[in-house]
Amino acid sequence: MALLLGHVTMTDQTHPSGRPWRNFYGRIHGKTLNKAQVERLESDLDALSPGPVGRDVNPDATPLDLAARFGGKPVWLEIGFGGGEHLVHMAKTYPDVALLGAEPYVNGVAMLLGKIEEAGVTNLAIHPGDVRYLMDVLPKGSIAKAFLNYPDPWPKARHHRRRFVTPEYLELLVHVLAPGAEFRVATDIEDYVRQTTQEVPRAGFELVSGPDFTAWDDWISTRYEQKALREGRVPHYLTYRAPV
Ligand SMILES: C[S@@+](CC[C@H](N)C(=O)[O-])C[C@H]1O[C@@H](n2cnc3c(N)ncnc32)[C@H](O)[C@@H]1O
Repeated sequence: MALLLGHVTMTDQTHPSGRPWRNFYGRIHGKTLNKAQVERLESDLDALSPGPVGRDVNPDATPLDLAARFGGKPVWLEIGFGGGEHLVHMAKTYPDVALLGAEPYVNGVAMLLGKIEEAGVTNLAIHPGDVRYLMDVLPKGSIAKAFLNYPDPWPKARHHRRRFVTPEYLELLVHVLAPGAEFRVATDIEDYVRQTTQEVPRAGFELVSGPDFTAWDDWISTRYEQKALREGRVPHYLTYRAPV
């Protein structure tokens, strides 16, 4: 198991030499995985890799060859896919697009693998780790659309700088997005909306719509959104265009 988890979390978090040290404050492990999940993690992850991500396997940060990996399809990125319902839904809905997802939470990755198997989708790849290390090796302007669905809220003021909508993350995102690419944000936290509407335009994005209370036409409600609704919180949806 230790070996397996070492394999699953194979990111620079455990190999801090070289590229900037980045703290990751979220959860990496949850409930004990069942046998089928462990087997899937061991057997399926390599084939789903987008290519070498992380200092240990890509010390020079050589950009990934996405055209070779995805046969020239446009590539969309989902940041923190959780249980993977949105990632698989998008892969199913858009067979001519390649979906790339990043998620450090091993139980979420295991859930996604089950969904991939069930749906039989092949147009997707995943980085089972922090999206910043994936963005380090994505070619400039290579991502045609990005999704940030229910990012960790970090409600305490002193933790707001850990949010995705901060210059450290947004600068990396701007680099990998194609000029004018769509960037979607969904959140149930009012203060996250406030920070998004301040910081995302500051990073050069243009607001296209939102905050709306109605989701995009091709939206599928995620596990986290369902939890938010059960607990009486209101989803907000924002759409931005990357700097041109
Ligand atoms: C509140 S959950 C939402 C999950 C899913 N998007 C949903 O809507 O159900 C936020 C997710 O973002 C992931 N996350 C946090 N920081 C991340 C990072 N730096 N890179 C990739 N994923 C991250 C967390 O592990 C967590 O699964």
